[in-house]
Amino acid sequence: MKNLAAIILAAGKGTRMKSSLPKVLHSVAGKPMLFYPIELLKQLKAGRIIAVIGHGADQVKSAFKDEKITFVNQTEQLGTGHAVMTALKALGGFTGGVLILSGDVPLITKETITALVKHNDRKGRKKAVMSLVTTILDDPKGYGRIVRDEHGAVVRIVEEKDCSLLQKKINEVNAGMYYVSAKFLFENIKKLGKENAQGEYYLPDLVQLATHQGEHVAAITHVDPNEVMGINNRVELANANLYMRRRINQGHMMDGVTIINPDVTYIDYGVKIGLDSTIYPNVHLLGNVSIGPDCTIEEGVRIQDSSIGNNSTVKSYSIIESSKVGNDVTIGPVARLRPGNLIKDNVRIGNFVEVKKSTLGKGTKANHLTYIGDSVIGENVNIGAGTITCNYDGVNKYQTTIEDGAFIGSDSQLVAPVKVGKGAYVGSGTTVTKDVPPDSLVITRAPEKVIEGWAKRRKKKAKK
Ligand code: UD1
Ligand code: CA
Repeated sequence: MKNLAAIILAAGKGTRMKSSLPKVLHSVAGKPMLFYPIELLKQLKAGRIIAVIGHGADQVKSAFKDEKITFVNQTEQLGTGHAVMTALKALGGFTGGVLILSGDVPLITKETITALVKHNDRKGRKKAVMSLVTTILDDPKGYGRIVRDEHGAVVRIVEEKDCSLLQKKINEVNAGMYYVSAKFLFENIKKLGKENAQGEYYLPDLVQLATHQGEHVAAITHVDPNEVMGINNRVELANANLYMRRRINQGHMMDGVTIINPDVTYIDYGVKIGLDSTIYPNVHLLGNVSIGPDCTIEEGVRIQDSSIGNNSTVKSYSIIESSKVGNDVTIGPVARLRPGNLIKDNVRIGNFVEVKKSTLGKGTKANHLTYIGDSVIGENVNIGAGTITCNYDGVNKYQTTIEDGAFIGSDSQLVAPVKVGKGAYVGSGTTVTKDVPPDSLVITRAPEKVIEGWAKRRKKKAKK
């Protein structure tokens, strides 16, 4: 939008969160709350974004250090009006419209904000110096109430703590987002007083200042109450998460993903899932995750900061972190991929297999009870049940290399650094400490001894 500047209010302590983390850094669907208004303003192409910060300023700044935002420090939090006063210094000379958003209202949509901005420009109506968003709540407690005159025009906003008993009954509340002409803002912000129950400079008092000057204040109403939900405590945080997740899940379903039970499926903002993939209940897809088409992610799986190719299956209760998984792969059930793996196409990783910082080449299988760490494994390698790469000597970590087509018999240990050559065989129960040349067999086994009748004789002795 042309000539649009924005102020995001995010300096408050968030006392009601009872947290050492600044409120706007609390997470909603995997992103800090403040991410959402910033993202929205970027989508609207706001020319300038000013964030007013204060409580935990350094933490907030470093969380958003890559964004093109002007941070303004409000050292003392004297109210939302004071916060805007502080921000205006960074807007000197600006003449367009100023959008003011709250850092603690993450569910607001682009549609609503666009409507808020456009509302003002409608022809045939007196241009409002300010427009705001309101909604109707069954329980308006805690919100500023919208007072209208006999013609229905908004005349002022009264904060909960300043409400008369009658005003407390008003169900229409202030959503805390505004679109104000810069000229009006510059002229009036200093006129705000703090003669109120909280002794704060209230931004919503601008409404009264406008109407006293005979200016028109516009309002868009009946916005979905969930959208304008402000987060002040952890109950509201949980509600916001619930609603955001529902929205995210609906988006995926509309885009062709089957989600068996969206109420218990936890998908972070920004996760990508391909067409015709199926997500079972209690799956967590966290952070930067992308899943290709035709995948199946079974119940209880957690995937974090990883990518999964096409037509792959992650079976129940597996965990995948910071790994790259190819096409037609099967993982799990109950497998664990710790960070740093590259799992190529057609690999099978079965139950109770842990893989860390390793590459598994095409068609390789590790189907049961295995630890693979710091390893480079070629194509079509068969890793038998109970194989362990001993990558750590108590001080350093070492690499295991297994070349294409090698066969590792069950219950073997590969003591790194060690290499098993192309096509070589490791006999079951072998402890490999030296490199194995290609196409050879290695076996370390005490000779098998059978003593006939031994057990019977022992039992007889015991009876005596
Ligand atoms: C505010 C509105 C209320 C509205 C509600 C909607 C005021 C006085 N009241 O109340 O009418 O119904 O939002 O959610 O504006 N902040 C600062 N500096 C300050 C004080 C606050 O940056 O000195 C920031 C906070 O970090 C927060 C936002 O402003 O992101 C709103 O402040 P908050 O204290 O949450 O206001 P509410 O009581 O929710
Ligand atoms: Ca609030």
